[in-house]
Amino acid sequence: MANPDSYLRQPWRTVHGIPMVNAFALNWERIDNFQSRPEDIVVVTFPKSGTTWVSEIVDVVLKGGDPKKCKEDNIINRVPMMEFAAPGKMPAGTDQLEVMASPRIIKTHIPAHILPKTFWENRCKMIYVGRNAKDVAVSYYHFDLMNKLEPHPGTWAQYLEEFMAGRVAYGSWYNHVKGYWERRKDHPILYLFYEDLKEDLRREIVKVAQFLGHELSEAALDAITQHTSFEAMRDNPTTNYSKLPSDIMDHSVSPFMRKGTTGDWKNHFTVAQNERFDQDYAQKMSGTDLRFRTQI
Ligand code: PPS
Repeated sequence: MANPDSYLRQPWRTVHGIPMVNAFALNWERIDNFQSRPEDIVVVTFPKSGTTWVSEIVDVVLKGGDPKKCKEDNIINRVPMMEFAAPGKMPAGTDQLEVMASPRIIKTHIPAHILPKTFWENRCKMIYVGRNAKDVAVSYYHFDLMNKLEPHPGTWAQYLEEFMAGRVAYGSWYNHVKGYWERRKDHPILYLFYEDLKEDLRREIVKVAQFLGHELSEAALDAITQHTSFEAMRDNPTTNYSKLPSDIMDHSVSPFMRKGTTGDWKNHFTVAQNERFDQDYAQKMSGTDLRFRTQI
């Protein structure tokens, strides 16, 4: 059994050319050989883009809009993260998924071009969540401060450079959001935006339910909207990650449910950093019609 010291706060490793969380990268064949089922529902995002939020929405929609049923178990068991591994500490995502009844909701951050082919071949429904790069960088920085599965992020200034260069786990945010944006043209992908969820949660929940072929009563919609508000998810021990071992995630450094807003980047980017970021962004995002809002 692996000793956690061998992977906590260790540099990332590369899988198929993409930087990957050290503990997840070991034995990557389990991911390449993973078998999807046609009825799987995949929630896929670049990290810190609203994965937990949309995972909870999908699960409560499948449960007919009954939040009580969701509260019976932790989100990490209801929506396992496929590539997750923390040997000797927690079960691997692939092991959880293998024994799970269908329809499974599968969380992953794997970029489109290295997602196991089985998901494309089985035409599994995917829900992608994009969030503007500036808020993602800020959220990811705070996450890396509290999550020891990641290398220590250093200072904010150092981290921002790494983020822009794609030298963070899962690689380039720019390629990630563009990859699934392109794939949605020939695959059933519902492409959502964190900022839209913030703007009108109920409207976005309706989109999710329709995509999954579920009709919900007004009362169920009300219940889901309430259950998946930031405050409700922050205070809910089955969604706020507080039950994870504290030597992996230290919420006293920064809570997983940190701020849940759009525009927090303004509290972190200097004017110079913002200018440099915008310039680089324009280059990396030229040639796509994909647009993000950095404020609402
Ligand atoms: S992870 O670790 O990649 O799975 O993280 P992920 O869930 O994708 O993103 C975490 C950020 O999403 C915020 N969050 C929410 N915002 C608004 N409403 C709800 N219900 C909600 N649930 C999670 C969470 O606070 C993290 O963002 P920041 O900006 O750090 O607060």
